[in-house]
Amino acid sequence: MAKVKKAFFCNECGVESPKWFGRCTSCYAWNTCSEETIVPAKSNSATINLRTSRSILAANAVTQKPIKIQDVDQENFARIDLKSPEVNRVLGGGLVLGSIVLIAGEPGIGKSTLSLQIALKLFDKKILYCSGEESAGQIKLRADRIGIENQNCLVYCETNLENIITQIGDKQPDIVVIDSIQTLYSEYVESSAGSITQVKECAASLLRVAKENSIPVIIIGHITKDGSIAGPKILEHIVDVVLQFDGDGNQTYRVLRSQKNRFGATHEIGVFEMVDNGLREIENPSEILISNYDEPLSGVAISASIEGNRPYLIETQALVSNSPYPQAQRSATGFDYKRMSMLIAVLEKRLGFKIAAKDVFLNIAGGIKVVDAGIDMALVAAIISSALDVPIPDGYCFAGEIGLSGEIRPASKTEIRIAEAQRLGFKAIVVSKYAQKAISRKYENINIIFVSKINELAQSLF
Ligand code: TYD
Ligand code: MG
Repeated sequence: MAKVKKAFFCNECGVESPKWFGRCTSCYAWNTCSEETIVPAKSNSATINLRTSRSILAANAVTQKPIKIQDVDQENFARIDLKSPEVNRVLGGGLVLGSIVLIAGEPGIGKSTLSLQIALKLFDKKILYCSGEESAGQIKLRADRIGIENQNCLVYCETNLENIITQIGDKQPDIVVIDSIQTLYSEYVESSAGSITQVKECAASLLRVAKENSIPVIIIGHITKDGSIAGPKILEHIVDVVLQFDGDGNQTYRVLRSQKNRFGATHEIGVFEMVDNGLREIENPSEILISNYDEPLSGVAISASIEGNRPYLIETQALVSNSPYPQAQRSATGFDYKRMSMLIAVLEKRLGFKIAAKDVFLNIAGGIKVVDAGIDMALVAAIISSALDVPIPDGYCFAGEIGLSGEIRPASKTEIRIAEAQRLGFKAIVVSKYAQKAISRKYENINIIFVSKINELAQSLF
């Protein structure tokens, strides 16, 4: 038996250390150290594979020669159409054969529902759905809720990696789903399921299986409270595609966002609604993210946002009120807190707006998280509108980034945003003056208002 060696790992970033640490030397997280056995009890599959891959490498070294980049044959990645336009879009046009896709999200957000739904919709493909989280009965219950019958979907409740790999070899499925990577364990690694070494080894073995057999593998992974993928960052490096599935657990909308994609663009989004029979695809997010009011309200501004190549209009809300506390309260839902503080500071300094002593609450409608910086202008407009208690004129929307000196910078792909606002019947869109050059055509049904400074924005509205 091989000698057992112990080492310490950071639960956040996976860095290995020979001795215990209070604070990670790599990612500086506190209290993330855990001790694990790194040399397996049995002869290790990883070492055997490493040896074979080295010999393959040596053999290839003879035949492979460096070639000019122009002479490289463009590989056409064969993709499986997942029968879900939203998921296909996020993946860049379907699931690439032999790729590993990680779907990460908080517990209860709908990762299992999404992957089971995909599995059930693919009638002509054989799917192996491996679950270590639920029993076959529970999965059947969920399938009944989704209400699609499929004869080709195999359910396998197992947490042992070697057994799963045997079944993959045996059943030769077209797609494998692993729910979830944190429940898997390999016999060759002597630490508990979900530990860094287990997750690493299991993901690496699945990668090998996927690449060698050209079988795509969808892995579900949990995320920690602060939003990173639970356990190691390493998982993100191993897989080809990382999809983050998020939304407010109390609301029904969910967004699938690509964070990393070796076969397509990142930051593409897919929008879903959790309904009684699973996740409903939302082709036209703008129409659900804007509320209709009988009368104009102060503190509400519409942002023409974009995520990947997909434009959508979304409602931003601000509430500015006198603070009962010596320290004013600030809160941002669906938007970066630090960016909100920056916008408030710019308003104070560049517009002479006195809100330092006031409570400011920001909210993005629908419980959706927005990362697009082009939302800045709408948020600032909403804050000013709430502070003055004057509604923004009806039919206005905004797209622009705000800089530290109060200048309004063009939002990326301004023209696509304008086109979407026009399509949805908006009367006017306020954009950066510096975006003028990028606008190539005339818009007849929408008035484009150009502003270059934050004070011009305030003047043009109030
Ligand atoms: P689930 O897919 O189990 O989440 P995860 O795998 O990410 O932990 O989904 C959990 C929630 O979704 C659960 O609270 C119930 C709800 N749900 C519906 O609202 N409708 C449905 O059709 C299904 C299957 C689940
Ligand atoms: Mg689940």
